[in-house]
Amino acid sequence: MKQKIAWEPWGKYIEEIVKHGRRRRRICGIDMVDLAEEYGTPLYVLFQPVIEENYRRYQVLGSIYDHYLVCYAVKANTTFALINILAECGAGADVASEYELWFALDAGVPAEKIRANGNCKSERFLAECVQRGIIVNIDPEDELYLISDIARELGKEAKINLRLSGFPLENITAANIFTSGKWSKFGIDLSRVRDVLRKLTQLNYINLQGLMVHLGSQITRLNAYTQVLGMLIKLAEEAISLGFDIKEIDLGGGFGISYLARERWEQIKAQIKADQDFTWGNEPIGYEYDFASRGLIWQGEELYSCFTPDSFLNDLLSGVYSSNPAKSFKQGLEEIGSPLFVLEPGRGIVGNAGLTIFRVGHVGTTSGGENIVHVDGGVNLHGQNIIIPEQLHRMEIANNLGQGEPFNTFVAGNLCYTGDLLVRIKTTLERTPEKGDYLIFYDTGAYSDFFASNANSFPRPAKVMITRDRRPRLVVKREEYADIFSRDMDWGKEPQSLPPH
Ligand SMILES: Cc1ncc(COP(=O)(O)O)c(C=O)c1O
Repeated sequence: MKQKIAWEPWGKYIEEIVKHGRRRRRICGIDMVDLAEEYGTPLYVLFQPVIEENYRRYQVLGSIYDHYLVCYAVKANTTFALINILAECGAGADVASEYELWFALDAGVPAEKIRANGNCKSERFLAECVQRGIIVNIDPEDELYLISDIARELGKEAKINLRLSGFPLENITAANIFTSGKWSKFGIDLSRVRDVLRKLTQLNYINLQGLMVHLGSQITRLNAYTQVLGMLIKLAEEAISLGFDIKEIDLGGGFGISYLARERWEQIKAQIKADQDFTWGNEPIGYEYDFASRGLIWQGEELYSCFTPDSFLNDLLSGVYSSNPAKSFKQGLEEIGSPLFVLEPGRGIVGNAGLTIFRVGHVGTTSGGENIVHVDGGVNLHGQNIIIPEQLHRMEIANNLGQGEPFNTFVAGNLCYTGDLLVRIKTTLERTPEKGDYLIFYDTGAYSDFFASNANSFPRPAKVMITRDRRPRLVVKREEYADIFSRDMDWGKEPQSLPPH
C-alpha cells in the first residue's frame, strides 16, 4: 500500500510505504530506513532527479533572454558527482578558491563557464585563472593591481568583472549572509566605480568583461534584485560611454527556497515573538530590539519563498524600471548590447535536493523540563545552524511514521558544548521518538557540510546520490579512524633521518 504526500517541493518524489506492518518514508523509490541501515548515520542523501529538475527551472531564461549562463555555486555542496551532473546539464561553476576551481575543472566544467570569487584570493588562484582564461570577479579594488602584475608576468591578459557592493538595501536577508550592503566585507563600493573604470584604461593586461554583484543568500523577495539590476545596467551604460565593451552582467546567486510552508513559518515567527517558552533559552531568536519603534523586529532569515527559480527569473526579467514602467529589464539589457546574463545559484539548485538522516540516541528532558531529542551528529554537520540559529527544517521520523501523540521538542547534536543544537525553536514531531529511530531533516542540500569538521574526532558523514534510475550510489565515503587523524605526523618514533640544522 502506498500513499502520495502532497509536499512541496518534494511533492511527486515522496511516498509512504508499509513494511513489517510499519509506515515508512520512501523517496525517489528508495526506502530511507533501508538506506540509513545500509550506509549508517548521519547520512547525507542527494537526489539526482531533483537536482536536474531544479537546474532545468533556470532554463526558463532561454525563452526570455537567451544569452545566459548558470554557474552553480560549488561552495553550496562541494561533491564531485553533483558538479559532474550539473556540468553534463550544461552548467558552469562559481568557485571561491583554487581548490574549488581544480575540483570543478576535474568534474568537467569548462574553463570559460567558470567565475572566480572571493575577497582574499591567493596569488596562486589568480594566476590559475589568468592562465586558463577564467573570468575573475575583482574584490576588493586592490586586487586589480595584483592581478595586473600576475597577468603581465604571465604575458596573458586577465579577464575580469568588477564585483560591486554598498547598495542601498536593508533587511533583505539575515545580516551574516547579506553580502552587498554597507556592512559587507565584499566588493568595490559603488561610489568608486567611475574612478576604477578610469584606472582600468591604464592597466594594459586587464580586459574588463562586465559588472557583478552577489546580494546575499536566501533572499525571498524580488525588489532587491530589480533595484540592483537596474543600477548595474545604468553603470554598464556609463562604462560603455567611456569606451568599454560590457560583455556580461553577473547577478550572483542568493535565490531563496522554501524550508517550511508559508502558514507554518508565519505562525513560528509570531510564536517566537509572543511566547517566551518557545525557543532555546527563551531568546527571541531571529528578532532584534528596535529602539526607534521600541519593539522587536524580524532580522533573521526567511524560511519561505513564494518563488521557484523559473517564476523568479520570469518576474525579474519582465519586471519594469520604476522610473520608466514602459521598459523592462530585458529591454534594458538589450539596449546595452545583450551582454551574457550570468547567475550563480547554489542553494536554489541543491538546497531542496538533499536531506540528512540522523539516528536518535536518547529522548529526555532538560533540567528546565523541556523535551530534548539527542541525535548522532552535531551542528557542524548542519552548518546553516551555525550561521543562522533560526534555521529550521521540516523533520520527520522515517520509520513508524505518525503513530502517536504529537511531540514538541528541541534537538541536540552529539558535540561537547551546549550551543550544539540542531533545532533551537521547538518543533513538532508526529510522535515521541525512541532510541534507534531515524530522523529525516529535509532540504539540507545546501551549506550543510560547509563547516563539517572532525569536532570531537567524529568522522564526517557519507553522501549517497539517488540516481536518475532510482538507485542509491555512494558518492562520498564516511571517514574512518585513519582518515580523521591522517594529518598527524608520526611524533612517537625517531625520525629515520634528521634534517640538517
Ligand atoms: C559570489 C557568490 N555567488 C553565489 C553564491 C551562492 O549563493 P546561494 O547559494 O545563496 O545561491 C555565493 C554564496 O555565498 C557567493 O558568495
